[in-house]
Amino acid sequence: MKPSRFILLLFMWMVILKSRADLLGTWELLVDDARIASMHTVVTRFNTVVLLDRINLGPGPKSDCQIDPEHPALKPGCYSQSAILDLTTNKVRPLFKTLTDTWCSSGQFMSDGTLLQTGGFNDGFQKIRKFTPCEATSFCDWAELGETELSEGRWYSTNQILPNGSVIIIGGRAAASVELFPPQGGGAVKFPFLAEAEDMQMDNCYPYVHLLPNGYLFVFANNLSVLYDYTKNVVVKRFPQLVGGPRNYPSAGSSVMLALKGDYSTATVVVCGGAQYGAFHDWRTNATARQSCGRIVATGEDPVWEMEAMPVGRIMGDMVVLPTGDVLIVNGAEAGSQGFELASKPCLYPVLYRPDEPMGLRFVTLNPGSVPRMYHSTANLLPDGRVLIAGSNPHYFYNFTGEFPTELSIEAFSPEYLSPERASTRPTIVELPERIQYGGGFDVVVSGKFLAVGLLEINIASAPFATHSFSQGQRLVKLAVSLSAVEDVDGVWMYRLTCTAPPDGSVAPPGYYMVFAVNLGVPSVAKWVQLI
Ligand SMILES: *[C@@H]1O[C@H](CO)[C@@H](O)[C@H](O)[C@H]1NC(C)=O
Ligand SMILES: *[C@@H]1O[C@H](CO)[C@@H](O)[C@H](O)[C@H]1NC(C)=O
Ligand SMILES: *[C@@H]1O[C@H](CO)[C@@H](O)[C@H](O)[C@H]1NC(C)=O
Ligand SMILES: *[C@@H]1O[C@H](CO)[C@@H](O)[C@H](O)[C@H]1NC(C)=O
Repeated sequence: MKPSRFILLLFMWMVILKSRADLLGTWELLVDDARIASMHTVVTRFNTVVLLDRINLGPGPKSDCQIDPEHPALKPGCYSQSAILDLTTNKVRPLFKTLTDTWCSSGQFMSDGTLLQTGGFNDGFQKIRKFTPCEATSFCDWAELGETELSEGRWYSTNQILPNGSVIIIGGRAAASVELFPPQGGGAVKFPFLAEAEDMQMDNCYPYVHLLPNGYLFVFANNLSVLYDYTKNVVVKRFPQLVGGPRNYPSAGSSVMLALKGDYSTATVVVCGGAQYGAFHDWRTNATARQSCGRIVATGEDPVWEMEAMPVGRIMGDMVVLPTGDVLIVNGAEAGSQGFELASKPCLYPVLYRPDEPMGLRFVTLNPGSVPRMYHSTANLLPDGRVLIAGSNPHYFYNFTGEFPTELSIEAFSPEYLSPERASTRPTIVELPERIQYGGGFDVVVSGKFLAVGLLEINIASAPFATHSFSQGQRLVKLAVSLSAVEDVDGVWMYRLTCTAPPDGSVAPPGYYMVFAVNLGVPSVAKWVQLI
């Protein structure tokens, strides 16, 4: 090799290494050993996080590990089926009262802030459970509903809260039907679309469900999607098939509805990544994951999928809508399928998807993590703008010696907007009502040093039920905002913004939301509000 060529190559390597070192975002370890690999993860309005796995994973029968809740500590060698993480102390407290198997179940917050949790495996198949969250310093635990059961057993179903506060529970393995909670007379209603979407390896489980601002549900399974009128149980529109293979369990990519804004007449859905068809069935752990994303205006008259490629292929990614409206894609693997021992090549690099940029400029590769987060891992937006990363267990049981061991640690990823360089632009919410009403005006007082006042956003984010690469009930709504007063309080500028609450339950179903002030792409710490 000529010396000049060698120097050129060396120079190129230095550029590559430097740019790697400069990749955006930071990782931190929150909990080293949570005694649970969280398969389902939910953030509560008390800034705690409910972690949930399935029964009988640790050594020994579960009954050996049931301990008096008055003395909430686990015996050595025991793992929690459920636990709660306090975000102020990073301490994990086991929960004891999920008595039935929550493996691959589903959930959703109800309008009063109670977490509804449905279905599962074995004795949990038809069960309903509730968790009423409390202050981190108090004790609260699960309650099994006992008598009230699902009309049909549901394993791998998806829940979505509806505009009137009922929760719809959609599909599941071999369950092409929907039902409501609170239960309605008549039980489950058939939903043949889900049967149509099933292939020889399923691919219709954990359907992607988005409540659109026009009141219909957008339901996506395999490569098919429809507009579903749940009030009449009819499909009112069929969207074109999405090219690039199946996208739901066991071939999961992920999906989000982009932030709702303006007059809320438009909603756009994005579906990214997935496994190759056959990877699950033929045990092809090295089948390269899909790189493509489809994006469709779900409220459009005659919409088509707009296709775009991610920087790398990804299966089992989690898509998290950040307070800014950008989307973080994190976790997963570059090859294989969902299921036990079925994936390889962990995908350590998160990617930021910036929906408002022109095509070709939307993806930014971020700073990689160091822990593989594959099957049964989760990602959730936290009230301080970080993203909580938990779980990963691609094995049937807890297994710390196999490849990609069961992961008991919990991490947080801080997007670049939390970097020290941007700290001076971070706004603070000083004042916010506890409750807001549909269509009503309310004031938010925001302080900060370098606020682009005319551009300040007030955005509300739901707390979804994250499991299996999809966050059930995830939504971000950007509110209409106007500046109504500026005050100097002891040398600190206070900006009083008048906001308009979402017009109705289709734009934002009733319940608790995180309210973020966003200044020049930097979110405040959120305060919680109840929308009624
Ligand atoms: C909410 O809507 C569903 C679907 O239309 C309906 O069956 C149910 O009765 C409603 N629930 C309440 C509490 O009004
Ligand atoms: C959708 O999936 C089915 C198999 O389930 C396949 O036959 C069909 O070609 C796929 N459609 C597209 C557009 O790829
Ligand atoms: C995947 O694995 C199979 C069997 O181990 C092997 O035959 C095949 O070449 C591999 N494919 C790739 C793309 O590595
Ligand atoms: C752990 O997983 C490996 C596969 O990665 C498997 O060979 C081994 O048998 C498992 N061990 C236990 C105790 O289940």
